[in-house]
Amino acid sequence: MRRVKTAILISGRGSNMEALLAAAEAPDYPAEIALVLSNSPEAAGLHHARARGVPAIAIDHRPFGKDREAHERQIDQALKDAGIQLVALAGYMRVLTPYLVTAWQDRMLNIHPSLLPAYPGLHTHARALAAGEAFGGCTVHLVTEGVDQGPMLGQSRVPILPGDTETSLAARVLIAEHELYPACLADYAKRLKVP
Ligand code: GAR
Repeated sequence: MRRVKTAILISGRGSNMEALLAAAEAPDYPAEIALVLSNSPEAAGLHHARARGVPAIAIDHRPFGKDREAHERQIDQALKDAGIQLVALAGYMRVLTPYLVTAWQDRMLNIHPSLLPAYPGLHTHARALAAGEAFGGCTVHLVTEGVDQGPMLGQSRVPILPGDTETSLAARVLIAEHELYPACLADYAKRLKVP
C-alpha cells in the first residue's frame, strides 16, 4: 500500500510525535514517518525518535538570529533531501514565515490545544479556564499564514471539570491530542494527491 513520506517537526517533549510514530508502526497506516526535525538540538523528542530508529535532526534556529526565512530555507532543503511529501507540526513552537507555509501549502498539518477558532496562540488552557468555558479541547488543521487559522481537519472536545487547573486540563487535553492527531494524519494522508 502507498505510504506518504511524512516529517514531524517538534520543539520539545514530543509526546504527539510519539503518538504519531506509534500509529505509523502499523503496516496499514497510510503515512511513514521518515524524518523528525527540531529547531532545538536539546529537544527530548529527538532522542525518542532515534530510539525508535527514525532519523532525527536538529536545525538550530539560534545561529540565524532574526532571519527566520533563512532558517526555514534550511528546513525546507532538509525536507526535500529526505523526499518528504507531508509535514506534521507537533509542538513546533516557532511562528512560520510565508516562505515555509507557501512551500508546503496543503501539505502541512498542525495540532493546537484548543477548540479553534477559540484561543489561538499561547496559554490556551489558562485563557479557557479564566473565561469559564465548559469545554476545552484540541484541533488539527492545515497550516496557513494566519497563526492557528487554517482549515480544520478534526477536533476533540474535553470537558472542563470543577477544580481544573491549567496543568490538569492540559494533561487531559493531551490524551485527546494523542488520539486525534494520528487519526487526522491518516485521513489526510489517504486523501493526499502526491506525484
Ligand atoms: C501540545 O499540547 C500541542 O498541542 C501544543 O504544544 C504541546 C506539545 O506537546 N502545540 C501548540 O501549542 C502549538 N501552537 P508535545 O511536544 O508533548 O507533543
